[in-house]
Formats: sequence, structure tokens, C-alpha cells
Amino acid sequence: MAYQIETRCIRGDEHREGRHPFGAVAVPIYQTATFSHPGIGESTGYNYTRESNPTRAELEHIVSSMEGALDTVACSSGMAAISLCMELLGSGDHIICSEDLYGGSVRMFQTTGRERGQTFSYVDTSDAELVEKAVTEQTKALYIETPSNPTMQITDLKRMRRLADKYHLLLIVDNTFLSPYFQNPIAFGADLVIHSGTKFLGGHNDTLAGFLCTSRKELAERIRYLYKTTGAGLAPFDSFLMLRGIKTLAVRMERQQSNAMKLAHWLQRHEKVRKVYYAGLPEHPGYEVNQKQARGFGSMISFQTDTQETARRILERVRLIAYAESLGGVESLITYPMLQTHGDLPAKVREKLGITERFLRMSVGIEHVEDLIADLEQALA
Ligand SMILES: Cc1ncc(COP(=O)(O)O)c(C=O)c1O
Repeated sequence: MAYQIETRCIRGDEHREGRHPFGAVAVPIYQTATFSHPGIGESTGYNYTRESNPTRAELEHIVSSMEGALDTVACSSGMAAISLCMELLGSGDHIICSEDLYGGSVRMFQTTGRERGQTFSYVDTSDAELVEKAVTEQTKALYIETPSNPTMQITDLKRMRRLADKYHLLLIVDNTFLSPYFQNPIAFGADLVIHSGTKFLGGHNDTLAGFLCTSRKELAERIRYLYKTTGAGLAPFDSFLMLRGIKTLAVRMERQQSNAMKLAHWLQRHEKVRKVYYAGLPEHPGYEVNQKQARGFGSMISFQTDTQETARRILERVRLIAYAESLGGVESLITYPMLQTHGDLPAKVREKLGITERFLRMSVGIEHVEDLIADLEQALA
């Protein structure tokens, strides 16, 4: 029987024991740019770190094992992974995206993507009919975030796979928000899975990383070629930090989710909070779809306050929760998407999605939940 996900976070697949020199239990950091060859035309399996490195290879194995992927490349950031992924698409291609993607992805699509001759449609991918209506002769890919960032919309991955099959599209899923611990899009037909490893996988708000995983052999070969050509690889030391972070992914995800659930209920009851967006609330429109395709809801919560002043007061007054961009780490963070992560979204799109001056997004960490509630309570008082 294959190892459970908690074990795969630490060991990867079965039967890989005793693979490090001197029996090292932690993977050594191979801080070397190049590798000497035993003879002409011979290789140890490693030649040059831009192409591959043993510390990074171990990390890539672990992430593939957790995602059920054929291959994974570890990149220097989530954006580097997304950039590599977009290299798979050509000039003239049309891509249909979830309407509230991470703002940095939208910035890339609207600038470098358009300069390369690609076009993008942003639709509510939780509605498969809207997605189908957006398909054109040029459409080559569906690019999904579920839950989406920051309004937590849920997209039915099986329905997206059916559309992808019908119109011969690539199905790309940014799985950052749930991590492989809670969701494996490849099992639901995704061709490519992206992670900002900076978030839950690393888990400590200290390292940038990204991953591009695939379930398809021909894509894996192309990605490996592009990877060594563009130099998107993660450094050995950062690969080690990622490996260390991933070992505790399971316990962190469980604690973060349980804190998030309690906080979401507490926020719902607060008189100055108008609406809470959390996929773990049964009244969330995507609750049932998420139940079918994921093992959890994660720990990202967004909420609308009664006034702009309340939102600003929270950001100015929180003491334990840091007013900072990013998410997924052990420290709880709160952001103002309108000015930060989603500042690059066109104003009209922001308004339609409700990303206003009253909208805040919180990444719930592993602190004691009573301390988090007390911090929000004093900030809201
Ligand atoms: C969903 C999502 N994808 C991708 C990224 C980009 O990752 P990175 O900051 O590691 O480049 C982010 C960053 O916030 C994100 O939230």
C-alpha cells in the first residue's frame, strides 16, 4: 500500500530508504554549481545545478509524490513557475482564467502574456456554462484557482476536465490555497498544477519558491527543457528549507484550518462584519463542490467590514496578526487586497468581485485561536 499523504510529506514514495550518504536523515544541501564527471561521456546523474541538483531533486520527488504527478520542477518563486507554465503556450493562444486570480498572475498575463500575442478572458469559472461560452477557436487552456484569490470561489474540476476534453484544452490549476495536503487537482484531470511554495508548502514566511507539476510525459519533457534553458531553478539552500517546511505540512494545515473555522464563525457573529468568505462555511456557494474534490477547506478567510474606517482601523491596530502580504505560513497575516495583492486588477473587475475598501483577506496561522480572536477584538473595538 502506498504511504499516506502525511508520510509522503516526509519520505515521498515508499522504498526510498537509505539513499543519502553516511545515512544522513535530513537531506544534505549540495551547495555546488557544477559536478565533476567520472570519465568522458559519463555523468554521476548531475552535471550543472541550473539543470538539476540532488537537494532540489529530493524536493521535486516529494512534491510529485504529494501531488500524484509524473514530474515536478522546483522554481525560484511561484511567479517563476507560472512564467514557465505560460511558455508552454504560443503566440495567438487564448486562455480562459478564473476571474479573481492572484493579482500577480493577472499582471503577468496582461503585460508579458499580451506582448507575446496571447489573449485572456476572465470568467466566473464556478459556472461551467460561462466557461463554455467563452471558448473560441483560439482557446488553448483553462487556468483555474480553486478556492480563488481572494473571494474563495470554488470551481468544479471534473466539469473543467470535461470541457478541456471537449475542446482539447490544457487544464492548469494553481493549487496554492489548499496545498497538496488538501487537494490534488491531477486526480481530477488537471494537466498542470502550480504552487507558490512560498505559502503553505514552505510554511514559515521565510523562503520564496514555486512548483510546476505535470501528469503528462510530453509536457514533462518540454518543461524540463524550458527549465534548464530559462534558469528558473530553486537554489539548493532554499530547496533544503522547502524540504524542512514540507515535513510539517500536515500538522500545520490541520491546525491552521481548525483556527480558521473558529475565526470564520467568530467573524460572522461580529456586528462590524458584513460578510465572511470561507469555503468551510456550509452556506458558501461552493461548499459541496469543494467537499467532493478536496479533503479540507484551508485557512484563507476574506471578509467585508461595515465601513472603510473599520477595515483601516483593523489594519492599523492589529498587534499579533501582521499587516503583510503573502499567506500560508505559521504566522497569521492580514492584507488589504485592493491596495496590495490585487492592486493590479482593473478597477471594474475589483468592484464586480467586491474587492473594495471594506474587503480584507486573512491567512490564519497556528497561534492559539483565542489570542487571534482577542487581537481582532481589540482592533475592532
Ligand atoms: C495563488 C497564488 N499563486 C501564485 C503566487 C505567486 O507566488 P510567489 O509570490 O511565490 O511568486 C501567489 C502569491 O501570492 C499566490 O497567492
